[in-house]
Amino acid sequence: MCGIVGYTGKRDAKEIILNGLYRLEYRGYDSAGISLYNQQTKRYELYKDAGRVDHLARIVEDVPYSNSGIGHTRWATHGKVNQLNAHPHMSKNNRFTIVHNGVIENYKNLRDTYLQDHRFSSETDTEVIVALIDYFSHTMPVKEAITTTLKRLQGSYALLILDQEEPSKMYAAKHKSPLLIGRGKDDYVVASDLMAMVGVCDAFIALEDETFVVIEAQKIILYNLDHQPQSLQFQTLDYTDELADKGAHPHYMIKEIMEQPIIIRRILEKYFSEEKLALDPALIKEIKASERIYILAAGTSMHAGYVAKTMIETIVRMPVEVHIASEFAYHPPVLSKKPFFMLISQSGETADLVACLKKIKALNAKTCTVTNVKTSTLAREADFTLEIYAGPEIAVASTKAYTAQIAVLVLLAYALSGKETWDIRYEYSKLSQAMESFLEHYEEMHQITKQTFTKFHAFYIGRGVDYYVGLEAALKLKEISYIHTEGYAAGELKHGTIALIEDQTPVIALITTKEVALNTRSNLHEVASRGANTLTIVTESLKEVGDTVVLPDVHPYLTPILTVLPTQLFAYYAALERGLDIDKPRNLAKSVTVE
Ligand code: G6P
Repeated sequence: MCGIVGYTGKRDAKEIILNGLYRLEYRGYDSAGISLYNQQTKRYELYKDAGRVDHLARIVEDVPYSNSGIGHTRWATHGKVNQLNAHPHMSKNNRFTIVHNGVIENYKNLRDTYLQDHRFSSETDTEVIVALIDYFSHTMPVKEAITTTLKRLQGSYALLILDQEEPSKMYAAKHKSPLLIGRGKDDYVVASDLMAMVGVCDAFIALEDETFVVIEAQKIILYNLDHQPQSLQFQTLDYTDELADKGAHPHYMIKEIMEQPIIIRRILEKYFSEEKLALDPALIKEIKASERIYILAAGTSMHAGYVAKTMIETIVRMPVEVHIASEFAYHPPVLSKKPFFMLISQSGETADLVACLKKIKALNAKTCTVTNVKTSTLAREADFTLEIYAGPEIAVASTKAYTAQIAVLVLLAYALSGKETWDIRYEYSKLSQAMESFLEHYEEMHQITKQTFTKFHAFYIGRGVDYYVGLEAALKLKEISYIHTEGYAAGELKHGTIALIEDQTPVIALITTKEVALNTRSNLHEVASRGANTLTIVTESLKEVGDTVVLPDVHPYLTPILTVLPTQLFAYYAALERGLDIDKPRNLAKSVTVE
């Protein structure tokens, strides 16, 4: 989703901002723009267009050295994907320039109240912000014009603001959209994502809501919206730069799929201390004191939540409900008297979850974020954080974060049960080895994919936890190959949806649970006799002649982490076969920071 990178200092602003924008590409976007200070004209010049950062880089190829500027990648929310709607946006008199992440919900109202005579160049809510700053600047100092504007905004924003009349100053403000300030040797980077400042800064702070900063030369001052200075506490930026290259792999997605066995081992290392599982005892105590766990999440993380529900209920015998974050925030269920909330989010920034957290806080209930980004909004604001240690996930379609989320949540279930009836360290190592041995032959999945996904519809079916893995398998295929795919409860298919089965429709059954293996196989026969092209993904002990993918047996609590691997590869190869942009699928964003 939208990305912001600003720079002010002595180094080459163009290079730092463009590099930052490249690093934010993984979030998904459709347009890119930059405003750079021109030392000759003594003005900020604007360059923007629909398209990739590469395209922007070509546009600014001959722009001379600049020491200050702001850049943006836009993921359209208000208005079409075109040059006019791309950021930065300027006020009509060209005095103020801004970039914005987030959504201003009352922009129409603001337009009608203050800017009736204003002729807008774009269809964006952002242009209303810059027009308002300009409007107020006619009657008050700039700092006040900015805060007067901010106080009138409803919704979410992360903003960088430049003023042509004081070009050495940069203003940054945020509310409900992440914004971080990075400090280098004698310069600053302001960005919506830590990734944009890796390699440039060695310290950073994450801005709090309703604060803003003024950066000028070496000085940075943080204010609240009433202009009272606030203290600034930078923390060390010790991010490892794992995303630097794809290694030998042609795409981040395949690199990330291949990393999964190592991540399982890393999780073990991180959560074990002196041979003992070391999860925060306060977290365990809080969950045990509650009556029911509510898992809130979106997309792939929600699918990890479903698997976690099965495992926690089986291992701990504690009720768990999974809710779509965007539904829960505004249509919460009747809650148990002592609820505990787990928010699962790879990015830790998903706006639907941030909205949930706000509501939950009002209930005084305890929360834990399960995330890959320890500096994220959700990690900062929840009572507890469980880090999944997957390393930066760059491909928009999530793979390693999904399996890492499940791996961490099974550890949690184990810790909650308090019964050490299985050797968890051994089982995780065995899982990691099984994943490795399957992935050694990953290219075999290419051939199967070529023969299977020839139609524009497909189904994954399964029962119990296999059904939940099927939901994720279907989402993956949809996301990057654009094949319409459903994950279906195997027994439910015959109650209507079976009408969609045509000649050669691929139906892939996931079969890893002994109790229901035969039932699922029967369901597969039902569709096969109606023309479907049927495939199976099974575990060794349940295999039958003719099964398509046979996976080694691992502990049943960990099996879903293995079962999903072939489905990730099917999605990858289906997209490859269609010549699609695997790492940056159309319309999608990695981190969805609007509701
Ligand atoms: C977006 C991404 C999905 C992701 C979902 C939740 O829609 O495209 O891949 O699963 O957000 O993201 P989160 O960061 O909260 O796990």
